[in-house]
Amino acid sequence: MTRQPCQHQKETDGIVLVTGGSRGIGAATATLLAGQGHKVVIVDILPEPLEEAAIMLWPEAFDVSNEAAVTSGIAAIEAAHGPISGLVNAAGIFGKMHPVEKVRMENWDREINIDLRGTFLVARNVGERMARRKHGAIVNVASVAGMTSGPIHAYTAAKAGVIQITQTLAAEWGRAGVRVNAVSPGFTRTAALEAGIASGALSRERLVRNAAMNRLVEPVEVAQAIAWLLSPASSGITGVNLPVDAGFIAGSTWDAYGGLREAPSN
Ligand SMILES: NC(=O)c1ccc[n+]([C@@H]2O[C@H](COP(=O)([O-])OP(=O)(O)OC[C@H]3O[C@@H](n4cnc5c(N)ncnc54)[C@H](O)[C@@H]3O)[C@@H](O)[C@H]2O)c1
Repeated sequence: MTRQPCQHQKETDGIVLVTGGSRGIGAATATLLAGQGHKVVIVDILPEPLEEAAIMLWPEAFDVSNEAAVTSGIAAIEAAHGPISGLVNAAGIFGKMHPVEKVRMENWDREINIDLRGTFLVARNVGERMARRKHGAIVNVASVAGMTSGPIHAYTAAKAGVIQITQTLAAEWGRAGVRVNAVSPGFTRTAALEAGIASGALSRERLVRNAAMNRLVEPVEVAQAIAWLLSPASSGITGVNLPVDAGFIAGSTWDAYGGLREAPSN
């Protein structure tokens, strides 16, 4: 007899590990999940505690792109806090904007190492453990940049790679009861993005102009999608990439037709 999914089975009844959890989307996700009653452990290359007292901070610097550190770190986290049944891969760095001839390969390597290799390393290490236990859910944070083009050459390639490995790992571990999905945030109002706007490298007006909803995404909105993809409410879903972008992808081609319409005034 084939096993039917059980709506009441809590897929995250172990701990939820959030990488890049000290800031931005990772921090918003850790806070939301802790508020829902999950046992949450955050790791970060610059570890800092969050306000929510229930969130456990892994005190050592955790670099997702360092294979030996990931292997020993995950083993130590499970020894200290118990099995990981939910993983959120939110650690990442933004791409530097350059014309193609100005791309410096040390920047290319850094972005690919953290955003793609780091996501794969943590997902593989934790996912193999989940597969042995036949239980778990993983959400990788990709980006609309991985679904479109832009002058952030290594970043777009890394994020497209994250969307691809999400499918591959979903197929790899589907029979072992492990689901693997991605979210692709649009421009999200984290401190990292606000710093880009404050420095003049990005313009808020340009960022929102092509979004159907004419605004940035809030970190908690990405967190809510991640929490849903970790939960049994999405028990039939694996291998998908869910944009959380205030309609950026839907709206970004309308410029060719004269732009998006303003809301009717009544
Ligand atoms: N903010 C946006 O507009 C946006 C849009 C699309 C995708 N994203 C993606 O969302 C994720 C989070 O971005 P954010 O905006 O919250 O950024 P952020 O800078 O606020 O948070 C990223 C966190 O990751 C940590 N980190 C960086 N390198 C690391 C490493 N090697 N190992 C472990 N931790 C590391 C940082 O210290 C930081 O705490 C990233 O993958 C980013 O690419 C963000």
